[in-house]
Amino acid sequence: LSTGKKLVIGTVAAAMMATSAVAAEYTLKFSHVVSANTPKGKAADFFEKRLEELSGGRIDVQVYPSSQLYNDNAVVKALRLNSVQMAAPAFSKFGKIVPQLALFDLPFIFKDIDHLHRVQDGEVGTKLKDMVTAKGIIALDFWDNGFKQFTSSQKPILMPKDAEGQKFRIMSSKVLEAQMKAVGGNPQMMPFSEVYSGLQQGVIDAAENPISNIYTKKFHEVQKYLTISNHGYLGYLVVMSKKFWNSLPDDLKADVKQAMKEATAKERELAQALDKEQFEEIKKYAKDTGKLEIFTLNDQQREAWREAESKIYPEFYNKRKIGKDLIEGALNTK
Ligand code: LMR
Repeated sequence: LSTGKKLVIGTVAAAMMATSAVAAEYTLKFSHVVSANTPKGKAADFFEKRLEELSGGRIDVQVYPSSQLYNDNAVVKALRLNSVQMAAPAFSKFGKIVPQLALFDLPFIFKDIDHLHRVQDGEVGTKLKDMVTAKGIIALDFWDNGFKQFTSSQKPILMPKDAEGQKFRIMSSKVLEAQMKAVGGNPQMMPFSEVYSGLQQGVIDAAENPISNIYTKKFHEVQKYLTISNHGYLGYLVVMSKKFWNSLPDDLKADVKQAMKEATAKERELAQALDKEQFEEIKKYAKDTGKLEIFTLNDQQREAWREAESKIYPEFYNKRKIGKDLIEGALNTK
């Protein structure tokens, strides 16, 4: 055939392929509260692309970032009703059904990110996932965000006493409430979507967030001081509606598992890379505008925080709260 005819046939074939693409048999809505440009947001988008590819378009994945679909804790309930099929809520948002997941909120419990991953990938992580499964939700994988840093509009938070009297936004979590009360802070539970305006209007003075949530929601622009405190960790459990999971044939279940496996590996890499990159952006903002001062806890300050905060662990030894076995299991994970 002449090149011209080949071109025409090629174009027709491409058009036919496009129109005969398999119509989606399943719609999977994935709801989350952070920006698309965060580890969770990017991994959710990656999962969408991979699962659509692997399933040959039989599953249409729709990601809704920035609380567009569900705000905060509401998503766990929506998932149980199958109004949304997938989510990756922060651990404290499971408070009503599996409060034990707040283990991950305990300040200073993880030495570093590798220790945290060993806990998640080991016996403690499995026990926690089983508790979620027992509540009729499919527990897929743990995803990272990162260690949390303090910000404030009142004063730099360096020693525990600096927290005294400041109003701190926290997620709805008994552990985080105890964490702030232990140092005389005034904890205020608030959905993530309201944090920016809360800080801007002075309803709250301070907050604790990982770098990517600070940067992508511009919290640093409505705060004066940022302290690299790494005092606690923020991460997620990726969950799926059981009704949706049960409706999938085995081949599509395998595709979901494969897409999740790839997305989780990518998510862990993204979390570390974005944490570094976005901190550089915040430092640049601080330098360019002079409106933000950045501090890092020194060893002595960090030790003072650890001492004040580890005192709260026994409050959560009760099995209905977290459980001594899980707390010690995490601390002793090698
Ligand atoms: C928060 O409420 O601070 C977090 O749960 C937001 C998130 O999902 O990272």
